[in-house]
Amino acid sequence: MGSAVAGASISIGVGEASAQSSSSRRHAELYAADLHIVTITDTSVTIAWMTYAKRHFPYFTEQDAVPADSEVRISRADLPDGSAQVHYDASPTGYHQMRIGGLVPGTTYRFEARSNGVRAVPNYFATKLIDPMTRDGFFTTLTRPPGDYVQTVAVLNDTHVGLGEHLVVGTDETPYSYFMLEDELAEIKAAAPSILLVNGDLTSEARPHELRKAKEILDGYGREKVDYFLTRGNHDRPHRASEDPRAAYETGTLLPKELEASSGSSASEPFYDNVIDYFDLPYQQMWVTRRGNLRIVGLDSSMAENSAGGTIRPSQMEAFRAEMASDPSVPTIVMSHHPLSLEQAATAWGSRPFLMDKRSATQVEHIEASAQGAFLHLGGHTHRGRRSRGHIATNVDFLETPASGEFPNVYTLIDLYTGGYMVTSHRPDTARVRGRMVPERWSSHGVLPEGTLYRTDNRNFTVVRDLSGLI
Ligand SMILES: [Fe+2]
Ligand SMILES: [Fe+2]
Repeated sequence: MGSAVAGASISIGVGEASAQSSSSRRHAELYAADLHIVTITDTSVTIAWMTYAKRHFPYFTEQDAVPADSEVRISRADLPDGSAQVHYDASPTGYHQMRIGGLVPGTTYRFEARSNGVRAVPNYFATKLIDPMTRDGFFTTLTRPPGDYVQTVAVLNDTHVGLGEHLVVGTDETPYSYFMLEDELAEIKAAAPSILLVNGDLTSEARPHELRKAKEILDGYGREKVDYFLTRGNHDRPHRASEDPRAAYETGTLLPKELEASSGSSASEPFYDNVIDYFDLPYQQMWVTRRGNLRIVGLDSSMAENSAGGTIRPSQMEAFRAEMASDPSVPTIVMSHHPLSLEQAATAWGSRPFLMDKRSATQVEHIEASAQGAFLHLGGHTHRGRRSRGHIATNVDFLETPASGEFPNVYTLIDLYTGGYMVTSHRPDTARVRGRMVPERWSSHGVLPEGTLYRTDNRNFTVVRDLSGLI
């Protein structure tokens, strides 16, 4: 699952000696910031930060990173600080990512990250105030759920294939949205999940060439509807040709008039459903698959006529209702690109108009509430990692998994056990992903980390519940 560090120069020391050597490397001007925890598993932690020439406001004015060394000091919170392990990598880098393995499950550790002897600080509102782990410098490793391990489900969403193409025009470089997906898929493949779910916004804007590229990359991983399953996001909706005359939408399949919301309106320009030319993903239709005794349902919440919000048409809702009623007790994961619960709508940027409409959302929750096997509803779209409760489907954990193609650039693994599940979030550790992380952090005026990181324990956590139906 990715090497610990990109360079081969990592060294591990214990106690004060390494800390003293780092202070001799102190650089008075260096500012080590953007501290965040990427991953916590039962036996490892991955910590990331960035180094700059000077202290700065965390938004608006993009800052260039300054290369420096990487050091993470870690010790069990219940033991004296002198027992700390110091993990050190001398390779100069502006984006720092260190994975430390060999930790004890369910144990609290204190940690510090440093570059050239300067301590890295959490400097986002989210990491300084909302996330106690980065705020206080303590994290607790996860514990595996009780019971037997059954299988692992991998999740990607918001890969937005096509982003970054303009940055490499005329060069032989690979757009970042391509290599993010490629490198995530390489790590996912190494994790050998039973299934890969790609929960919407696969492409930047469903342009035919973006769909072709996304399919080429995904087919390098496996086969659609065998190894990987997709839902559509708002960016993968049917488009009108006039939305981007250079995209060549009109070369694709015409969306049948009866699938337009305003069907019969003679004035409307036609929509083209380019997705269907590349993937087995009929507009506004659900799919269902099983992996052993796990049922997975994909809902299409995209809307041709709405570039942001989502809905479930009545015919799809009836199919969903019938499927869930046919076997209400089998352990079930449902996925839709648009989050839907009241709590999700109340806390998301853009609120309800940006998410699934209330009528659809209420019906989905009622259907899931009457299927006692439903335990997890995956959403993307907000690009954030956040757990929410259902207010009707109180049996379901509504989980938004963070964006894969934009900051925080992660994929999610869900390890299923007969006694619950463990969710962990991972950023590929490759040179090209590392090289992209500073610009990623500064995209959208630098505010993206605020909206997407939220709390470490909403991206990495264990749920204990009876999933004995999985075997
Ligand atoms: Fe997205
Ligand atoms: Fe979206």
